[in-house]
Amino acid sequence: MTKALLVAGARPNFMKVDPVLRALRAYPRFQMKLVHTGQHYDPAMSDVFFKQLGLPHPDIYLGVGSGTQASQTAKIMVAFEEVVHREQPDLVIVVGDVNSTLAAALVTAKAVVPLAHVEAGLRNFDRTLPEEINRMVTDTLSEILFTTMVEANENLLHEGHPKEQIYFVGNTMIDTLLRHKATAQNLHTLKKLGLSAGKYLLATLHRPHDVDAPENLRAILEALVEAPLPVVFPVHPRTEKVARRAGMDTLLDKAGAMQALGYLDFLSLQMHAALVLTDSGGVQEETTALGVRCLTLRENTERPVTISRGTNRLIGKDPSRIVEEVERAIEEPPVMEEGPPMWDGHAGERIAAVLDRLF
Ligand code: UD1
Repeated sequence: MTKALLVAGARPNFMKVDPVLRALRAYPRFQMKLVHTGQHYDPAMSDVFFKQLGLPHPDIYLGVGSGTQASQTAKIMVAFEEVVHREQPDLVIVVGDVNSTLAAALVTAKAVVPLAHVEAGLRNFDRTLPEEINRMVTDTLSEILFTTMVEANENLLHEGHPKEQIYFVGNTMIDTLLRHKATAQNLHTLKKLGLSAGKYLLATLHRPHDVDAPENLRAILEALVEAPLPVVFPVHPRTEKVARRAGMDTLLDKAGAMQALGYLDFLSLQMHAALVLTDSGGVQEETTALGVRCLTLRENTERPVTISRGTNRLIGKDPSRIVEEVERAIEEPPVMEEGPPMWDGHAGERIAAVLDRLF
């Protein structure tokens, strides 16, 4: 019997853990427990994902909530340390690059328990972003590194990780996307929102560098209002708080803002969008898997395969470029690329097979 804890905490983690949990539950030898740190706690940021993905209720809920980088990470560490002491796992699996990932990795390594990182090796070499620090430290502490793209293997080898610890398995976030694509296709999301397929722009925005300075957020929202297409903009609570505090309620409405959406509605909107404008990492990958054009409001990306596949373009952080880049992108022919290697819906199974061999 191998006792394993699988840790999730924030919205983009939930679609990454589901395929791993499903695949490992097929091996009765693995006794799996799902730990939810509570980094994201709003029903729209957490519960709806559990429901729509068919994820079981977490076995352990830490309820840590929001805080500064240090306080949130510290709260998760204290709570997770108790879990590790109580459960005595043989293995801890973390996913992605959020504060929950880092906190659980630190605790696991200090408890001298084997640590596996799903989505290892992504780097944008920009240490001003908290996620880059989370990725680097988590990989340093992990002895089993599951990667989603060839470039990630190269980064890990370059940093001196032994190649025996690196497993190129594909992308569990895309496993989930492929699993739910047909359901999302058949939803009436567009009709409910009065949108026509291929004739709107989908925007998402939550990175501190875009939204925490109200003037920058205002400039982005103004660009959305000017965009030459109807805009639909499901708003992350972080972004909404900044906007409302700075009195941008009317601007939010004009920019197509609506409540954060569940997984299936958002997937449906991505699938049928003319164009997606984002600062998210996961959305860059999902649009690549769907063959939908994406403009990323960042100077760099840790997911270079989305650029080389031709779906994604970095347009920089300056909001004054948005309208021009949107105009340019809608003139271009649609993207017809196949997804990157191993983004085939079976990453979770490959992870389970590796762990079965190792434990
Ligand atoms: C976190 C991740 C980021 C990921 C994003 C997806 C880190 C460092 N960042 O950013 O990589 O792309 O999740 O959403 O881990 N809030 C709520 N309700 C919630 C959750 C958050 O209102 O359920 C608000 C709070 O005001 C909170 C703020 O959002 O202070 C930020 O939440 P936090 O978890 O710190 O980071 P995210 O910006 O969500």
